[in-house]
Amino acid sequence: MAKINVVLTGGTGLTGTLLLNHLANTSPGTEIHCLVRPTSDRTPLQHLNLNLSYLTGDSSTSETWDEILSQYTPETIIHIASIRHIPVILNSLKTARQNPQLIVVGTTGVYSKYNQYSQDYKGIEEQLAQYPGSHCLLRPTMIYGSHRDKNLHKLIKFCDRYGFFPVFGSGHCLVQPIHADDLAKAILAVWQRPAIHGTYDLSGGSIVTFRELLAIVEKHLGKPVRPIYFPLNAGVWAATLAEKILGAKSPVRREQILRLQEDKAYPHEAAQHDLDFFPRSLETGLQQEVELLRSEGII
Ligand SMILES: NC(=O)c1ccc[n+]([C@@H]2O[C@H](COP(=O)([O-])OP(=O)(O)OC[C@H]3O[C@@H](n4cnc5c(N)ncnc54)[C@H](OP(=O)(O)O)[C@@H]3O)[C@@H](O)[C@H]2O)c1
Repeated sequence: MAKINVVLTGGTGLTGTLLLNHLANTSPGTEIHCLVRPTSDRTPLQHLNLNLSYLTGDSSTSETWDEILSQYTPETIIHIASIRHIPVILNSLKTARQNPQLIVVGTTGVYSKYNQYSQDYKGIEEQLAQYPGSHCLLRPTMIYGSHRDKNLHKLIKFCDRYGFFPVFGSGHCLVQPIHADDLAKAILAVWQRPAIHGTYDLSGGSIVTFRELLAIVEKHLGKPVRPIYFPLNAGVWAATLAEKILGAKSPVRREQILRLQEDKAYPHEAAQHDLDFFPRSLETGLQQEVELLRSEGII
């Protein structure tokens, strides 16, 4: 079996691509085995000054991991794709009797009182805590930074186009989004410091209310963005109806509306201390995202 340095999942995603970009700049030529799906778009990785090899598969299946672990003994697995795949990965590692260092990206969604999945996340985190090898769990808040993010670029586009944004409830709940590039640097910091293990919450450099977030977007768009307030119940009702009619295709889930009422600010002092984690302010990050979306002709 071949000893290899690292297997990375999620390398073609928003955070993974930024991680590989940093690595190419700071440690050119590094050897990385990327687990990608047959459908993954590798184009953004092709120009990078890294020694990339591709393992094709599906990181949610034991077949993929059993196959990889029958051929390779990785020193480290950096798993960005989804914490939901962790039980399968742990099982395959146990079967293969391998205990590489595991660096896993989870989510602060584990703290949610509404999140129907938070129980699942808690269960998965408990399984990870039992892993006999060295492991580090990084829990980001909402990730933003480009047209590939799942949330804020859509909000920016909407505000740019329509000049308003619907706010369900008071808009006073707190948010602390993390820029994908700051998350990418934190993952690299863990990898480069093998003594680091345990769990770190990774939140952004600013805590703001949702109203304040809209005001920052308005400032950087340079045009008015009017918050239009709706009672929370109206949002919950509309989302429930949309879910009933459209199922998984619904653009918004009931739980997402309920979570708008939940403060989502989490301290990151431990990461600051151990990982030199100094995330950019939301003001800076949103300015960068608006500029990026403009340069790409998205807004
Ligand atoms: N979005 C948020 O606000 C948020 C908040 C907290 C935590 N997180 C977590 O943070 C992590 C990074 O988020 P992100 O926004 O950077 O992710 P992303 O852009 O959606 O990228 C996901 C990556 O994982 C790969 N992937 C997904 N399922 C896979 C599978 N079954 N087999 C192999 N590869 C698979 C994707 O491959 P393809 O290129 O083939 O799609 C892609 O490279 C994710 O685990 C996410 O759940 C996200």
